[in-house]
Amino acid sequence: DPTLHQLAAAKGKYFGSATDNPELTDTAYTAILGSEFGQITPGNSMKWDTTEPTRNTFAFTKGDAVVSFAKSHNQIVRAHTLVWHSQLPSWVSSLAATEVQAAMENHITQVATHYAGQVYAWDVVNEPFNEDGTFRTSVFYNAMGSGYIATALRAARAADPTAKLYINDYNTDGAGAKADAMYNLAVSLKAQGVPLDGIGFQGHLAIQYGFPTNMQANLQRFADLGLDVAITELDVRMILPRDATKDATQSTYYTNVVNACVAVTRCVGVTIWDYTDKYSWVPSVFSGQGAALPWDENLAKKPAYTAIYQAL
Ligand code: XIL
Repeated sequence: DPTLHQLAAAKGKYFGSATDNPELTDTAYTAILGSEFGQITPGNSMKWDTTEPTRNTFAFTKGDAVVSFAKSHNQIVRAHTLVWHSQLPSWVSSLAATEVQAAMENHITQVATHYAGQVYAWDVVNEPFNEDGTFRTSVFYNAMGSGYIATALRAARAADPTAKLYINDYNTDGAGAKADAMYNLAVSLKAQGVPLDGIGFQGHLAIQYGFPTNMQANLQRFADLGLDVAITELDVRMILPRDATKDATQSTYYTNVVNACVAVTRCVGVTIWDYTDKYSWVPSVFSGQGAALPWDENLAKKPAYTAIYQAL
């Protein structure tokens, strides 16, 4: 049988998975990670708290291990993420407003330079919006206003001229105020000539909340601006326990997401936020929920896997 990535590649796209360093010692896990996917995202190891835990002291060992795994399995890397309000070391949050821009630019320059030429894309800015489409308050927004986004993108381009530069967010997958805010930001950045190559749609879905409205059309309007689009962190959680009915609903969600990406020429690929329930972030963050991924906790394929396979 072809792999999910081979099926995606036949359509000019990638199919990828997130992973994390502790899992790389699980050989049954890495056998599938290394063979089924054409793209890898480090789930945590390129975040600010890992890469610059204290000011101007950089740590690349964990990120390098993920890049090395990807290289040895002919996989491209979506690097994640340079500027985000979360998993941010306390020294950044404690900076005086006048120091934040220099610290952000230094962080971007050092990290993106380290990985320059080795990664396909960077999520330069992650989760800039609130649900109502206003800009999220963060140390960056508070110090620089919404201009921090353009400043971050310019610094990333200077440090790594070949990486595709993305803004990434959740609950922007379908039509709505948050997606409109992302669209308006993209229009504005393009009009100013800011280096922006793509928009990432995380795709953290839940069957109890319904499928995003008009996802394909939403992706297409960004593509029509001359941007790439990508599904960057797809998972479809459910209220536990898992049963056949919930699995069937989940499968239709995976089918719909893959269909939307396949239908949009500039949708470059789909990344699931790890591939097995064994290592999903969902149960630890969404109490009572889980079973969000296409492989179960024993690394057996679920109906969602078949749904993706058939949609590709
Ligand atoms: C998650 C990781 O998977 C967890 O291991 C970590 O504890 C918290 O962050 N949106 C993002 C990702 O952009 O970075 C998050 O990853 C999931 C939500």
